[in-house]
Amino acid sequence: MDWGLKNRIARIITPADNRALMLAVDHGYFLGPTEKLEDLKKTIAPLAKHCDSLMITRGALRTSVNPDYPVPIVLRVSGGTSIIGEDLSQEDITVSIKDALRLNVSAVAMSIFVGSKYEYQTIVNLGKLVNEAEEYGIPVLAVTAVGKEIGTKDARYLSLACRTAAEQGAHIVKTYYCENFEKVVNSCPVPIIIAGGKKIPEKDALKLTYDALKAGAVGVDMGRNIWQSENPVAMIKAVHSIVHGSNNADQAFALYKQLSGKPNQKSKNNKQNNKQNNKQNNKQNNKQKKNSNKKSKKRN
Ligand code: R5P
Repeated sequence: MDWGLKNRIARIITPADNRALMLAVDHGYFLGPTEKLEDLKKTIAPLAKHCDSLMITRGALRTSVNPDYPVPIVLRVSGGTSIIGEDLSQEDITVSIKDALRLNVSAVAMSIFVGSKYEYQTIVNLGKLVNEAEEYGIPVLAVTAVGKEIGTKDARYLSLACRTAAEQGAHIVKTYYCENFEKVVNSCPVPIIIAGGKKIPEKDALKLTYDALKAGAVGVDMGRNIWQSENPVAMIKAVHSIVHGSNNADQAFALYKQLSGKPNQKSKNNKQNNKQNNKQNNKQNNKQKKNSNKKSKKRN
């Protein structure tokens, strides 16, 4: 592998632990202003320093990321459809390698839609993108099975999709987590990262992260489960504690709660009990006061 290609991959997958925390903010390319991603700058600014790389489109990069800030960029270079269009799988390459180089990106990313009507077009495009990108030492991330439901997202389908991407020369593959994920990882000769998918409770998203890594994924490319969280910074730090630290899912969730300033249930219950006790004590004190006032009035 060429030095430049290796060097760029090292910006995305940290060589010290062979792990990657990519923050996905490219959703607007087919979803428009997704909830909590309406103001890209506002969403990205507090999170960028906690990820290894940012997955983003060129329009969002140019308008919403400070070029002085040294976060490695994984540039989405495919598109052409929207969520209200006819078929999400009809994607093409929309960004030139020249523009990717101009933007000084660390990798380019595109989707393939295995099993869809546009399978042929997207897989051939992946091969062509690898041809071009390798000329300049730019790694290619292939995104599989993300978007509307395509086929069954089980280990059999995801193994097929990931392996197809790797055989075309993708340097990293992104897919969904599923049961028997080891099968997907073991049959894919290049590193796999997982997408977070739709927003789920923080505890479940952290378990998903932990389980995927345990099964052999090198990391996550997570979006909605971070920036749609009630506390995005606490959430990305909790994900980080699994990806680059030694936390398991429960420890990471405890960290999330602590960083969110949420008291744990025990002390919450204690506080409620104390409040109730105080109310009862106040009532009793008032009653006693009233009675002693009556008595003293009678005496007078
Ligand atoms: C979708 O096509 C995009 O590539 C997203 O980057 C990907 O789905 C990861 O984001 P999320 O964790 O929100 O699923």
